[in-house]
Amino acid sequence: MTKVLKVDAVEPDTGKIAIAAKAITEGGLVAFPTETVYGLGANALDPEAVAMIFKAKNRPADNPLIVHISKMTQLREVAEGVSPRMLNIAEKVWPGPLTFLFRKSDRLPQAVCGLTDKVAVRMPSHPVALALISAACVPIAAPSANLSTRPSPTSAAHVLADLDGKVDIVLDAGDTFFGVESTIIDATCRPFRLLRPGACTLEELQRLLGRVSVPMSVKKAESSAHAIAPGMKYRHYAPSKPLYMLGNKGFSHKLFAMKNVGIICSRELCRSYRGAGKNVIILGSEKNLYEIARNLFKSLRALDELDVEFGIIETFKEEGIGLAIMNRIKKASADMELPSTVR
Ligand code: TXA
Ligand code: MG
Repeated sequence: MTKVLKVDAVEPDTGKIAIAAKAITEGGLVAFPTETVYGLGANALDPEAVAMIFKAKNRPADNPLIVHISKMTQLREVAEGVSPRMLNIAEKVWPGPLTFLFRKSDRLPQAVCGLTDKVAVRMPSHPVALALISAACVPIAAPSANLSTRPSPTSAAHVLADLDGKVDIVLDAGDTFFGVESTIIDATCRPFRLLRPGACTLEELQRLLGRVSVPMSVKKAESSAHAIAPGMKYRHYAPSKPLYMLGNKGFSHKLFAMKNVGIICSRELCRSYRGAGKNVIILGSEKNLYEIARNLFKSLRALDELDVEFGIIETFKEEGIGLAIMNRIKKASADMELPSTVR
């Protein structure tokens, strides 16, 4: 049975956090909010608890997990050989939606890192996440709290839709802030390498880290043996219904009039076609990509609730957080554009 504990997002109740922390130290699974998406957490130092994460999510064993810490001294428990310069940088950007890859420490169970000798670490900024990790006194391994291939959860309801009965406790603090996952940087190579675009933008990172290399696979969706974050090679973020990107050929009145299509788009685009109808899901304003990011995964899940055969989604500029948005949209649609026969 999954227990849901509602907590305040800013000042979480210490009694409820203590209950969740106890579940973690006893080897259980706790889903908790971070500023990006909800995570499915277990004690990172307990191999059996870590194995349960993979089982609950139906996650391939070669797809490693992110380890969440609440204070800098915990970094030493999970990573090795972090240079003073890197420590300095991490101290500046954490807590926040940025994950670094370091060399894994021997103490950390191999299962956390898949087949690699590196560990992905981040210190989240969500008060509930920080309180939970502090109270548990252990680093917490946590992938996004969705079933493998499904869109990441941005609310406790999404977590329950995928994992009810498979997780001991869900800490419900409402919707997450960014709505897309953290940015992942490999800090073991020079120049630093972007492995997954996310809530922290490339532009911000370049200001902070200098040159950051961006592999081709970041802008390409298809599964490739070249995907560098192992998780990026799997089908991901996908609604159950087929989803197509609109591409740059534009919407048409015909599309908005079709009954078997669900349209996921900005408020502006919807207005220009006077398209507001029951099959339109609004992502937010095209002028505020943070709003679009925040509603993206929720909208992909909402498509499955519509009585339609397939979905079409608007595309956005790959700038700022738009890079993360488009990375997720391309993956969710397997990089497929709408066939011209449908237009
Ligand atoms: O915002 C986030 O990062 C959320 C919250 C819960 O923190 N977590 C998250 O975890 O998105 P997950 O497991 O859904 O995605 C982690 C990604 C995967 O693509 C995985 O392959 C990559 O990080 N990753 C983890 N460890 C790695 C490693 N040692 N080498 C390369 N990639 C790694
Ligand atoms: Mg995930």
